[in-house]
Amino acid sequence: MNNYLITGGAGFIGSTLANHLSNENSVIVIDDLSMGKEENLFKCSNLKFIKGSVTDEKLMEDILSNNKFDYIFHLAAIASVADSVERPVETHQINFESVLMLLELIRKYQKDLKRLVFSSSAAVYGDEPALPKKEESVIRPLTPYAVDKFAAEQYVLDYNHLYGVKTSAVRFFNVYGPNQNPESPYSGVISILVARYKKMQNGEEAQFTLFGDGSQSRDFVFVEDVIQALLLVATKEEALGRQFNVGTGNALTLNDLISVIDEALGINLRVKYEAERDGDIKDSVADISRLMSLGYKPNFSVQDGMKKYLVSEKLI
Ligand code: NAD
Ligand code: UD1
Repeated sequence: MNNYLITGGAGFIGSTLANHLSNENSVIVIDDLSMGKEENLFKCSNLKFIKGSVTDEKLMEDILSNNKFDYIFHLAAIASVADSVERPVETHQINFESVLMLLELIRKYQKDLKRLVFSSSAAVYGDEPALPKKEESVIRPLTPYAVDKFAAEQYVLDYNHLYGVKTSAVRFFNVYGPNQNPESPYSGVISILVARYKKMQNGEEAQFTLFGDGSQSRDFVFVEDVIQALLLVATKEEALGRQFNVGTGNALTLNDLISVIDEALGINLRVKYEAERDGDIKDSVADISRLMSLGYKPNFSVQDGMKKYLVSEKLI
């Protein structure tokens, strides 16, 4: 039985991780519910939910000084690239400043922490044309989100090198699966697509707005593979002080993704094409050899992951 803190733990990836861990461990989740939902979390005596912001220094100090954690996963963030372009100052406070504050609190109060895992992003690579992206590829952050993720990730790893805090970072590619909130225009594209298909299946009018011509590509990784990666990175000695790409190693264009879902559901989605978003990346695919060296093996192709997701949404 280990003690875990998961910030952003009522969100998509965080709630999946919290539910997985709470079977056999004690888990504290902090989330301000700006995107997450309390009902994403299993009701279970091992799992305690605290509603609050990671930018609230007093609250964070209370949590870090009154508990002894084995592992901390820092997942709280404004996850939308486009939102950071709209609101660079607000997103910086959450995506960067909260990280530095958390590192200082860990240094002060969590001497026995086995690992802090920070959720960085494939966005740090920007539009560097060399593919697939390796951890040592050129970093070219194009948006406030990507700048903050890269700076925060470097602080997290430097706290290992400078102060001996046990840290690692993961650069998630495009994660999808159950519990991803589709309600914001800035939500992950697959959650928005699934919401549109749901409407169509219910006989309602629905149309998906595609920003660009649909030839942009992403490495879409199913959330269960991401949980596998997070647990390996948190527990393997070789992961200490390092960052890891988390993806599948394969990319799909948005047009092809829509064809995959059309085919699985026997529906033709109505698509309206609009101008591409500022700061949008054209192509993104992960080299996952570093993560595989820890024992990672992705178990879900997009076809398999989408099928599981669509079943959980009762679409098939
Ligand atoms: P999400 O929006 O579902 O989860 C983030 C959670 O943080 C939400 O529940 C939200 O309510 C919470 N949150 C936001 N601001 C907060 C604050 N000030 N205090 C406390 N909680 C706050 O997104 P996700 O997809 O689960 O992303 C988790 C992490 O992984 C984020 O750091 C995101 O940047 C990163 N990431 C996600 C992806 C992806 O494809 N989903 C890819 C790369 C990186
Ligand atoms: C996503 C994640 C980000 C992560 C990054 C890593 C979210 C919200 N974003 O960003 O946290 O760091 O992957 O690779 O989880 N699109 C449409 N129509 C829509 C919505 C999106 O066409 O309604 C397009 C976008 O313009 C983009 C693509 O779909 O070209 C993917 O968008 P999105 O899901 O927001 O992902 P990223 O921007 O790649």
